[in-house]
Amino acid sequence: MTNFTRPKTDTAMFNRADFPTDFTFGAATAAYQIEGAQFGGAGPSHWDTFAATPGNVVRAEDGARACDHYHRWAGDLDLLKEGGFDAYRFSTSWARVMPDGVTINPDGLDFYDRLVDGILARGLAPYLTLYHWDLPAALADKGGWVNRDTVLRFADFAETVMDRIGERVSRTATINEPWCVSWLSHFEGHHAPGLRDIRATARAMHHIQLAHGMAVTRLRDAGHDRLGIVLNFADIQPVAAGQEAAAARADALANAWFIQSIAQGTYPQEALDGLAPHMPEYWQDDMPVIATPIDWLGVNYYTRELVSAQPDAAWPAIQSHDGPLPKTQMGWEIHADGLRGLLTRMARDYVGDLPMIVTENGMAWDDHIVADGVYDTERISYISGHLAAARAAMEAGVNLQGFFYWSLLDNFEWAFGYEKRFGIVHVDFETLERTPKASFHAFKACLRPNDG
Ligand code: FCB
Repeated sequence: MTNFTRPKTDTAMFNRADFPTDFTFGAATAAYQIEGAQFGGAGPSHWDTFAATPGNVVRAEDGARACDHYHRWAGDLDLLKEGGFDAYRFSTSWARVMPDGVTINPDGLDFYDRLVDGILARGLAPYLTLYHWDLPAALADKGGWVNRDTVLRFADFAETVMDRIGERVSRTATINEPWCVSWLSHFEGHHAPGLRDIRATARAMHHIQLAHGMAVTRLRDAGHDRLGIVLNFADIQPVAAGQEAAAARADALANAWFIQSIAQGTYPQEALDGLAPHMPEYWQDDMPVIATPIDWLGVNYYTRELVSAQPDAAWPAIQSHDGPLPKTQMGWEIHADGLRGLLTRMARDYVGDLPMIVTENGMAWDDHIVADGVYDTERISYISGHLAAARAAMEAGVNLQGFFYWSLLDNFEWAFGYEKRFGIVHVDFETLERTPKASFHAFKACLRPNDG
């Protein structure tokens, strides 16, 4: 059990005056994790079928009801306003907008239309992510991201959503975390569709990048702008001297594959060494589309990873090691300086002065309501440490324009179900009652200092 210490109320989590006046503070969510997939005529997604398969999700939980945000969105947006946030990052569910992957569900589009109006009505800036993993099951039946046709279907979906709400959103990301969509889901099998197949992986890793590039091209042609992507980065380090080659291989697969293809139109050689034989035919011809210029880059950062070579394993022959630093409820080491390092590396090696936004950063903790509140002091120091790291990157010249905490609400944490709590607002999954945690109040004190 966690030790519930009351936070010191006289210690600010951060000082807003240390950030530029137009720096955006927000909180993030994703459709499948909060909305309730059973509501509003949404079709089944591959997360519904993955969760319905024994052994894939802790306690066989799923996103059918989640936080019931589909019905409670107005109250949830009120919380963001009350916290003094500038912006809200949300995603559109493909399976809600197009239950079979192609045919429009008017209720689905109407929902996001109302949501965006609700965000704007509260003076918040809408940050849209078009795809945060809820692939319609009908497209999964046809091979999902292994099938090149899904790329074209995604571009259609992107255009449909943007034609409805694109003009009202501040920034749009095509895809959330292509590494999770491809490697984690097709090589490690931890996320839907739960494959462990290198050929499927190579195809998914290429098609997800192509889906991004093709959507950007289509959306630009249709007159939309402020387009980007959200990539997740881990600070990958060799566990010991002599393991640098393994770390470089791991970095190529987890980080460089995704940013280098967009920024430079090439894939890193250390990754191609193993993936090239499994790539779809003529993949090289797609590289200019993948490298279509973007307007901003979203960076998700949580932790570092210590790796070494794994003797006697097939390529890429990498293993992860338990690190010595304090860990979150996910078992992820808390390593704030990794955020500074990655942001400066992105600017130096890939994107230069392109605006960057931290689109996710946060920690899971075993939070519970005790007496009169939820006292998540550990989360307050996590946020404070990572914001200091973000500031250090800005002082070093990085054009960082915003920071979104993951997540507004405790929610369906994918394969971990509802047990891992990332929210600054506690959710009771029996009653669905929302209770702002101490970290929420700490944000509020920093963002609206004169408002008690
Ligand atoms: C990221 C996901 C997000 C959430 C956090 C903890 O990889 O984008 O949906 O699960 O991790």
